[in-house]
Amino acid sequence: MKLEDGILDILGKAQKGQGITDRDLCKTANIGVPELNSIRSGRREPAALDRISRALGLRADQIADMANEAWQAPTVALPPGVAMFSTPFADITVNHYLLWDPATLKAVAVDAGTDADALFAALERHKLTLAKIVLTHGHGDHVLELDRIREKTEAPAFAPEAEPIADCKPIKNGQHFKVGGLTITAHTIPGHSVGGTVYEFRGLETPVAAVGDVIFAGSVGGIRSRWKPALESIRAGVLTLPPETILLPGHGPLTTVAHEKARNPFFP
Ligand SMILES: [Fe+2]
Repeated sequence: MKLEDGILDILGKAQKGQGITDRDLCKTANIGVPELNSIRSGRREPAALDRISRALGLRADQIADMANEAWQAPTVALPPGVAMFSTPFADITVNHYLLWDPATLKAVAVDAGTDADALFAALERHKLTLAKIVLTHGHGDHVLELDRIREKTEAPAFAPEAEPIADCKPIKNGQHFKVGGLTITAHTIPGHSVGGTVYEFRGLETPVAAVGDVIFAGSVGGIRSRWKPALESIRAGVLTLPPETILLPGHGPLTTVAHEKARNPFFP
C-alpha cells in the first residue's frame, strides 16, 4: 500500500500547521522563491529540500529518503484477531478495523469506513459477535457506514467526548473497556481533530493501537490546533507505547511505534 503522504504533502502540512508564509519559509531556509517553486513542481533539488525540511522542523534525512523512494512502511504481520479494511473515498482510501478476542469471539469495530461489506463478511467468516463500535474521530470519511453497522449488528457505538456523534456514548481520555479477553484504553490526542482518540489494545499476541488520523506511516493527519503541543501529545501518547506496538492508521499502510520513532519526519 502506498504511503498516505508524499514529500509535498508533508512539507505542506508542516508549513500550514505552523502558519509559515512562503516568504518566511524562503528567508529561514535561505533559498529563493524559484527554488521553492521548483521543489513544488516536483523537481529534484536535494540541497534546497534539505534546507526547507530543516526550516520546517522536519527530519531532513527522512525527507531525503522519501524523495529518493528509500522510505518504506515496515512489513507488518497482523496477529490473529485483527483485520484491516481499506475502503474508497473520492480519490483516497480510508481504513477501518475489526479486532477480536480469538477465545471468546467478541469483537470491536474501530471506525466505520465507507463500505462495511468486508466487515460484515469477516464477522460471519470468523463467527464473531460485535460488542462495540469505537470511533477515533468524527470526520465524515471515518463514520460513513456507522448507521449501517449499527443497524445490522445492534452494537453500541462510542465517540470521543469532544466530538459528539448522534446516538454514540461519549469516551473520555483514559477510559478502559473490556471485550472478552481484550483490554482497550482510550487516549485523547487532540491536534488533527479536537477529540482525536487512539485505542490501545492489549490481550492479542502483539500490542496494537488504532490511531485514526493522529499518525500515519511517515506522516501525521493535518494538524488543526497549535502545532508544538499537538506534536508533543502524539510523541507522548503514541511514540511512548511499547516499540513493537502495531499502529493501525486511518489512512495508508500499517506501521509500528519503533518504525515511526526512528523514521517519521515530524518527530526529530
Ligand atoms: Fe480525519
